[in-house]
Amino acid sequence: MRVCGVDMQEFSGRVAVITGAASGIGSALARQGAAEGMKLVLADRDEGALRALAGELRNRGAGVLAVTTDVAVPDQVAALADTAFDHFGHVDLLFNNAGVLISGYSWERSIEDWQWIININLMGAIHGLHSFVPRMLAQKTPGHIVNTSSLAGLLASPLMGPYTVSKQAVVALSETLHYEFESIGAQLGVSVLCPGPVATDIAESGRARDLAGAVPDDASQQMLGYLRAGIAAGMAPAECAAKVFQGIRDEAFWIFTHEEFKPGYAARCDSILSGRNPHYEPFSI
Ligand SMILES: NC(=O)c1ccc[n+]([C@@H]2O[C@H](COP(=O)([O-])OP(=O)(O)OC[C@H]3O[C@@H](n4cnc5c(N)ncnc54)[C@H](O)[C@@H]3O)[C@@H](O)[C@H]2O)c1
Repeated sequence: MRVCGVDMQEFSGRVAVITGAASGIGSALARQGAAEGMKLVLADRDEGALRALAGELRNRGAGVLAVTTDVAVPDQVAALADTAFDHFGHVDLLFNNAGVLISGYSWERSIEDWQWIININLMGAIHGLHSFVPRMLAQKTPGHIVNTSSLAGLLASPLMGPYTVSKQAVVALSETLHYEFESIGAQLGVSVLCPGPVATDIAESGRARDLAGAVPDDASQQMLGYLRAGIAAGMAPAECAAKVFQGIRDEAFWIFTHEEFKPGYAARCDSILSGRNPHYEPFSI
């Protein structure tokens, strides 16, 4: 019996809401959604970049709504949902994608830094679920939710505490939702996107905080430099978006962009099952 993750083969005419749509993976999802004939609700806190993307996609004939939104603020996500449902009447695909990244020793990043990243990366997705899922369930039509986690959602590394914690929680949230949708026989499916390096601006997202607060120590600077280089050389966002749409079509819960990190996931499982203490092996990104 098919209990969830239903019939998302045809995207044309369906409505997608994308957070973090103004850059990187989000804008690539928007471009692919437009190419698939979807109607789009684009949300980001960067109003200028959001407007520019909306203009580009409208020029290509897509039905697009741009809603400036900070996903860390529950009322703004609720307003985003109201606007989307008022305008298009339904929402079929929700991408909880907005995210930010900082580096630093867990005990040295301030409580405000921890709250900042968790409020965006984790609470942003939770705000999305709260505002959209009840109405998507009530539609009683097939729908799907994609939560963007990360390679870091499955593998911890030093100097990445707040980011890793937020992204592992997004994996747990997504698994929970999957079981919940199964248990109620919902027509909604869920996927968790765990990208490896994709060439976007993510490594710059904490720069303003680093400048405003304590300057990160040498180890954090080194980690950021390593991340910047790996991300700059990463997969094209359009390729990542294509894998996401294929994953939805395949009803895949796990959406990976890079196979080469799977041995790392296996090593983590082995550490758990064997009882051996984990040992960090720097992975090349
Ligand atoms: N690029 C990678 O290598 C990579 C790898 C793993 C996971 N990810 C995840 O992919 C997602 C997309 O990031 P990206 O790589 O495209 O980076 P990006 O910086 O290019 O895009 C992120 C977008 O999110 C927006 N955003 C940030 N905070 C927001 C907030 N509070 N409210 C609304 N919008 C906000 C930004 O303005 C930006 O437009 C993130 O969740 C990120 O953690 C990226």
